[in-house]
Amino acid sequence: MFYKRNHGPVPVLEDISLYRLEVGGLASNRCSLSMDAIKQLPKHTVVATIQCAGNRRTAMSMTRKVKGVGWGLAALGNGIWSGARLSDVLEIVGIPKYSRVSAYGGKHVEFVSVDKCKEENGGPYKGSIPLFQATNPEADVILAYEMNGEELSRDHGFPLRVVVPGVLGARSVKWLRNINIIAEECQGFFMQKDYKMFPPSVDWDNVNWGSRRPLMDFPVQCAICSPEDGSYLDGKGKVTVKGYALSGGGRGIERVDVSADGGKTWTEAKLAQGPKSGLGYIPDDDDHRDKWAWVLWEASIEVHLPADIVAKAVDTSANVQAEHVETIWNLRGVLNNSWHRIHINGTSKQLHSNL
Ligand code: MTE
Repeated sequence: MFYKRNHGPVPVLEDISLYRLEVGGLASNRCSLSMDAIKQLPKHTVVATIQCAGNRRTAMSMTRKVKGVGWGLAALGNGIWSGARLSDVLEIVGIPKYSRVSAYGGKHVEFVSVDKCKEENGGPYKGSIPLFQATNPEADVILAYEMNGEELSRDHGFPLRVVVPGVLGARSVKWLRNINIIAEECQGFFMQKDYKMFPPSVDWDNVNWGSRRPLMDFPVQCAICSPEDGSYLDGKGKVTVKGYALSGGGRGIERVDVSADGGKTWTEAKLAQGPKSGLGYIPDDDDHRDKWAWVLWEASIEVHLPADIVAKAVDTSANVQAEHVETIWNLRGVLNNSWHRIHINGTSKQLHSNL
């Protein structure tokens, strides 16, 4: 199960032998790479969670209406991505590793896709990242042709997509066609007129898109997946609460706190990721296992029904989630990382006896 977010119709590539990735712009060389040529570069695998900036938007809209697709808490997915390192491809056009600026003044790397969207007036979807991130092998930006050990599917960007770990999903451009080295960040709609975060005082009548930078790293986030909000449980006693936590920019998860009384008292959750947890997608001895991948957690807590269960995560830079969604409300409903709260009811029998 992995969410899908497409701004235009999913393109169909009939003949893979005709596919070429064009790389050029403010670089010493340009190149045109077939899929075979890309697959001959060293294959690099990254375990990374892609999260849409609109994850948990519906909960933000419940306090004051926002514009955007109404996502619950599953506009994200964790994948094992394999492909060529972007930094290796950029070396082919003469840009060394760890470059902040190219010899011709390029400071950003633009990704242009095949799909056409109405927001771009029928032009291609696009986005960019800074050149330093693109040329830094530790940023693990890859041009992925495999997902979870299988050929990338059409919906997720076949034959080639960018995966920019730790950054909101909008920059992981699917169906990649061109890579351009450019002086300023990409001027496309999704960089300049969308995926920006405004303060709660800004609404559609006074928004100035040019006043804010495009969103890049996502903040610390967590959500309760089980039990579901509004569930009915039997009697009182211990309940196992489970969910995910992640942070952007390569920061891992230090801790997840869970409360069964709306946030008055807290229990620390058990974090799970490696084989010992039974999940098995990242070795336990990998010190960087939560650098780009989500962490699953669970806590067994005493509940007195009905109960308000709350979860909040702390990342390795000690960033904590916002307590109330109102404080981070923004007109596009992006980056809702407020404490996740669910309400659990007693069984209907119990409810009747309470009445
Ligand atoms: N790339 C292209 N070419 N077109 C798109 O519409 N959507 C972006 C990004 N890359 C998009 C794209 C957004 S907003 C997100 S959240 C992710 O892709 C979603 O990736 P997924 O569909 O593989 O989950």
